[in-house]
Amino acid sequence: MHTKSQQKILIVGGAGYIGANMVHCAKRAGYIPIVLDNLSTGHREAVKDAELIIGDMRDSALLERIFSTHDIAAVMHFASYIQVGESVIDPAKYYENNAAATLNLMRAMVKCHVKYFIFSSTAAVYGEPVYTPIDEKHPIAPINPYGHSKRMVEQMLEDFSRSYDFKFTALRYFNAAGANPEEKLGERHEPETHLIPVVLQAADGKRKAITVYGTDYATPDGTGIRDYIHVTDLCSAHLLALEALWKGAKSNIYNLSTGSGYSVQQVIDTVREVTGRDVPVVYGERRSGDPAVLVGDTSHAVRELGWKPKYSDLKRIISDAWKAYLIFQQMEEVEH
Ligand SMILES: NC(=O)c1ccc[n+]([C@@H]2O[C@H](COP(=O)([O-])OP(=O)(O)OC[C@H]3O[C@@H](n4cnc5c(N)ncnc54)[C@H](O)[C@@H]3O)[C@@H](O)[C@H]2O)c1
Repeated sequence: MHTKSQQKILIVGGAGYIGANMVHCAKRAGYIPIVLDNLSTGHREAVKDAELIIGDMRDSALLERIFSTHDIAAVMHFASYIQVGESVIDPAKYYENNAAATLNLMRAMVKCHVKYFIFSSTAAVYGEPVYTPIDEKHPIAPINPYGHSKRMVEQMLEDFSRSYDFKFTALRYFNAAGANPEEKLGERHEPETHLIPVVLQAADGKRKAITVYGTDYATPDGTGIRDYIHVTDLCSAHLLALEALWKGAKSNIYNLSTGSGYSVQQVIDTVREVTGRDVPVVYGERRSGDPAVLVGDTSHAVRELGWKPKYSDLKRIISDAWKAYLIFQQMEEVEH
């Protein structure tokens, strides 16, 4: 077995929001991260602690070259398209990049004898909650192509682990949020569809207002409740999952969540408090397909991986995201 400092981890999608945070955490933990990213939605300057290979996971020859020239001990896979709405308009784009391209990556791993795989899955595989908090035994019933594409990968992983010398952990994130402002790592999606950065844009006057969809849910303040998990907590779970596989744990699937949630109104109020700015709000009708409460039971990961979210209280999440947001605004002003 190699020592930690010799272990190379290929981080596919490592120039993106969560992947770039992972690169930093892996480096800090003593590993050698290597990034493969086609920069379709990622940012070159987000990769500071690793070699960046600009390329596509659809490119089998490139993958085989990477696996044969680097002694890759494991792959962490963050590369996918992530916009649920877009996946409904253009499902082919999602099945192609999220499912087919991932199959390509997995096939290259098997061919080159790279055995360990950590996959970014999503709570979207559960679809409409039948009960809450959602645990991993909850029925799987995605309601959009994004969720289906992620579930397809989980299915392929289960089959690969049964048939090949291949082990995986799939981590079903609820709402990734927060940032690492000290390292200038945060959320910079274009267009931005996630609630917290969108509310920050409204606080900064970059959006006229934030629309709250639904104020009559059966929740304490009538707005929808979601489970936000700090990106640094997601990264620590990835390292624990990988180390567990290396120690002989079986392939598995875990929710990554906090077990509790915050309402849309609480997010808006906390953004007002943290930024000291007003957030113009428009209260609208419910959107179809939006459940009242989407909260994950995370006891499986806590029990088996020894993972505990440390940074996922709402104030910490929003204050880190706001600091990173201001840094990105400054960077953009310098560029223009
Ligand atoms: N952000 C969330 O709240 C959330 C929630 C659940 C699951 N996830 C999953 O986490 C992962 C990362 O999400 P994110 O928010 O960091 O997304 P992101 O768009 O910021 O990052 C994705 C990265 O993958 C790269 N990429 C995409 N297709 C590629 C390809 N074919 N070859 C090489 N690189 C490619 C992009 O350039 C980008 O750098 C995704 O798989 C997503 O489905 C995210």
